[in-house]
Amino acid sequence: MDEGAAAGEAASAAPRLAGRRLVLGVTGGIAAYKAVEVCRRLVDEGAHVVPVMTAEAERFVGATTFSALASEPVRRSLWSDADPVPHTRLGQWAELVLVVPATARFLGLYAHGIAEGLLSATVLATRAPVVVCPAMHTEMWEHPAVQDNVATLRRRGVVVVGPASGRLAGGDVGAGRLAEPAAIVAAVTDVLCRARDLAGHRVLVTAGGTREPIDPVRVLTNRSSGKQGHALAEAAAARGAEVVLVTTADQPVPAGARVVRVETAAQMAEAVLAEAPSCDVVIMAAAVADFRPARVAPAKLKKAEGPPALDLVPTEDILAELGRRRRPGQVLVGFAAETGDPLASAEAKLAAKGVDLVVANDVSRDGVGFEGETNEVVVVDQDGGRQVVSLRSKREVADAVLDRVVEWLGARGDRAGG
Ligand code: CTP
Repeated sequence: MDEGAAAGEAASAAPRLAGRRLVLGVTGGIAAYKAVEVCRRLVDEGAHVVPVMTAEAERFVGATTFSALASEPVRRSLWSDADPVPHTRLGQWAELVLVVPATARFLGLYAHGIAEGLLSATVLATRAPVVVCPAMHTEMWEHPAVQDNVATLRRRGVVVVGPASGRLAGGDVGAGRLAEPAAIVAAVTDVLCRARDLAGHRVLVTAGGTREPIDPVRVLTNRSSGKQGHALAEAAAARGAEVVLVTTADQPVPAGARVVRVETAAQMAEAVLAEAPSCDVVIMAAAVADFRPARVAPAKLKKAEGPPALDLVPTEDILAELGRRRRPGQVLVGFAAETGDPLASAEAKLAAKGVDLVVANDVSRDGVGFEGETNEVVVVDQDGGRQVVSLRSKREVADAVLDRVVEWLGARGDRAGG
C-alpha cells in the first residue's frame, strides 16, 4: 500500500488508539525493519509509543528511526543514573507491551522469567497485556523448545500474533515470517479494547471436581483438574473484573482473584449461593458431583467387611438454583462436559437450568480432556447462537468465553434496563 493510501485510510477513521500508552519492544531479527512500519501505524492511530530496543535489534535498524517516529527517545538499558528502575517504571506506565519481532531468544527468556536486559525485565515487571510477534526461520519456529516456550506464554495469557508463512530471509519459504503490520496493529487494538472490558463487574467462577466423602479416607470424585476454571478467573481478573474463585483444585491462585477453597458439592453450594447475589456474572466451570453418599462412615471402612453398599443421594443443583434466584442483569454460564454430542446436552441444560450460555465440550476428543492444557468448545446461548472455539490453550478459550459473556452482559443490561 502506498503512503497516500495509508494516510487516506488513517485520516478517514477516528484514531482507535488515541492516548493509549504502549511500549514497543524490538529484538534482534531481520524482521526488525518491519517494526518501523508497526511503530508508524501505532503513532498514526494516536498511540503514545515508547520504543525499547535490544542491542541486537540495533544491528538491524537504527534507533533514530524509532525515536523520530515515536517522538520518544529509545530506551535501551537497565542501568541509568537518571532512573534506577526503568523496567518497573515502563512496566507500570504501559497499558500494553508489544514485542516486534520476538526472536527465539527473547521468547526463551520471557518464558523462563529471565530478566537480562531492559525489555526482558519490562515484560516481567508489567501487569499490562503483552503481545509478542515471533519471527524466525521455520526450523527454529518448529523446534520443540521454541514451541514449548510459546505454549507456556500462551497459557499465561500472553497474546501471540503470527508467525505467518511466506518468504524468509535467505530465500527460504515456510512458517516463521513476521505477521503483517496491519494484523499486528489490529491485534493490539483488540487486546486494548478487551483489556478492561470487565472493569466494574464482579465475576464468580467455580473450578475443579468436588470430592464427596465415603469415609474419613475415601471420596467419590471426577477427573476435572480445575485448569479451565482457574484460566477463566485469571482472564476475568486481567480484564478488570473483581473475581471470586470458588475452587476444589490444587492449581496456582490466579493473580487478582479472591479464592474460596471448598471440597464437597454442599460446601460449593453454600459458598456460591452466598457470593452470587453480589455478582454480575457467575460461571459454573466446576464439575460438581450429581450424587453423594447418603451417609459418611465415621470410621474407615474395612476390606474384611466386604464391598460397601453405597447409597447415593442427589446433591443440590447449584446452577439450577442460581437460575431460580437470578437477579436482573445477572449473566449465568454453565458447562457441559460430554463424551459424544455435546450440543444436544448443552441445549437441554440451557433450557432446564435457565442460564444464558452453556460452554460445551466433548472430553473424549484429543486435546480436550480434563487434565490437558488445551480445550475446544462450543458456546451455546439462550438466543440460539452457537460459537465454535477451535482447539487452543485454556487461557485463550477463557478469553473467547469471556468475549461472549461481555456481549451478554450488554444484552442483559439492556433487557434489565428496558
Ligand atoms: N452443576 C451444578 N450443580 C450440580 C451439578 C452440576 O451447578 N450439582 C453445574 C456444573 O457446574 C455445570 C453444569 O451444572 O456448569 C453441568 O450440568 P449437569 O447437568 O450436572 O451436567 P452433567 O451431570 O455432566 O450431565 P448429565 O446431566 O447429562 O449427566
